[in-house]
Amino acid sequence: MDKFRIKGGKALRGTVAVSGAKNSALPVMAAALLTVEKVALHNIPKVRDLITMSKLLAFMDAKVTITEFPSSDYVIETPKLNHAEAPYELVKTMRASVLTLGPLMARVGIARVSLPGGCAIGARPVDLHLKALEQMGAEIGTSHGYIEARAPKGRLKGAHIVFEKITVTGTENILMAAVLADGETVLENAAREPEVTDLVAMLRKMGAQICGDGSSTLRVRGVEKLHGTEHTVIPDRIEAGTLLVAGAITGGDLTIKDCAPEHLGAVIAKLEQAGAPIEIVDKTTVRVRGAKKLVGADVTTEEYPGFATDMQAQYMALATQAEGTSVISERIFENRFLHASEMMRMGANISIEGHTATVRGPAALSGTVVQASDLRASAGLVLAGLVASGETMIERVYHIDRGYEGIVEKLRGVGAEIERVHTAVS
Ligand code: UD1
Repeated sequence: MDKFRIKGGKALRGTVAVSGAKNSALPVMAAALLTVEKVALHNIPKVRDLITMSKLLAFMDAKVTITEFPSSDYVIETPKLNHAEAPYELVKTMRASVLTLGPLMARVGIARVSLPGGCAIGARPVDLHLKALEQMGAEIGTSHGYIEARAPKGRLKGAHIVFEKITVTGTENILMAAVLADGETVLENAAREPEVTDLVAMLRKMGAQICGDGSSTLRVRGVEKLHGTEHTVIPDRIEAGTLLVAGAITGGDLTIKDCAPEHLGAVIAKLEQAGAPIEIVDKTTVRVRGAKKLVGADVTTEEYPGFATDMQAQYMALATQAEGTSVISERIFENRFLHASEMMRMGANISIEGHTATVRGPAALSGTVVQASDLRASAGLVLAGLVASGETMIERVYHIDRGYEGIVEKLRGVGAEIERVHTAVS
């Protein structure tokens, strides 16, 4: 299993490019199942989750052509969908496999999708996806660890759905189910994440009738069929946010290009509050300079446009270097502080009570061996390693490979001392 070795203490300087958003690429790839025609996708990041999604689509008889490997261009064509199933072997490595449920129900009116089960950051049920599908007329059961869903007469019908809780993949799944349903579907308390809006943009190009994108009420008028399209996914706002923290925490001067600053409002505001000067250079570029002194600032994770839970671990790394107290409240997932105990092993002063972490800084971090527990926790540990004295060895970096394209190369390109160490599986 691979590890990262980091020698901390280097200020990051230069320009680094952001890849396409993993969390946009996943639903738009699933949406390709909605048509018999060709869908061409661009700016797909070269990360493991997208390879898993292509395997999943191929399992369902989609022809997935990655024009050149590794490449960010995918062509997906599913003239026949014979195998409406997401098997456990793939779902267990990527929960977002559940995003195929909506498209399968819309396209063939039947789906068998393995239940994702819990993950390190919490139970993460899919009850709201299933409840909404039931409201659209689906008959749903679970058997042998699989969700088994069927639309009577093969087609879902429009419904008025009010999500009890805001769910990103739930909103995406039901949107994809609704575009081919009979009649109108209204989704209230829908997620407003930019990735949802990106999916709406792609579905609209395929002929879907949707309005309300960017708001918490989406209206979908079902159509008979969708056609092929070409779509470029939006930049990854979490990768951009991680790089902003990298520049701020190392006292460097980092220009981050190919990003969408309009999606970074909450992170930019928080980093500025913590004392890091940030300049929006143009529509696709931001620049961060290291603060003379970072100061503690409290953070509460929220749905978009609030501060993303996917940036919480990275912010915690920054908070360890800020003077004073930073109170970090995690409101989205119940168990998302696993990185805190690893940061504490590096010398951070953090206390946890329930969903709140109190970080007192600045703390002199020192490198040691730490374990990555999930995708974003790994990113938090990389950031901590960049400012720790001596050597930090991060184990189980397969988590970070799920969602960050070329993180080692990108950070090295701006002066970090980081390398991937390949070790034989014992
Ligand atoms: C998505 C993102 C993930 C991000 C998260 C929150 C993708 C592929 N993943 O995950 O990176 O951290 O949004 O921004 O886009 N919930 C239920 N029942 C459900 C669905 C969700 O109780 O049926 C709960 C979850 O347990 C969680 C909260 O709702 O507490 C939000 O989860 P959700 O928005 O669904 O997260 P994901 O879509 O899985």
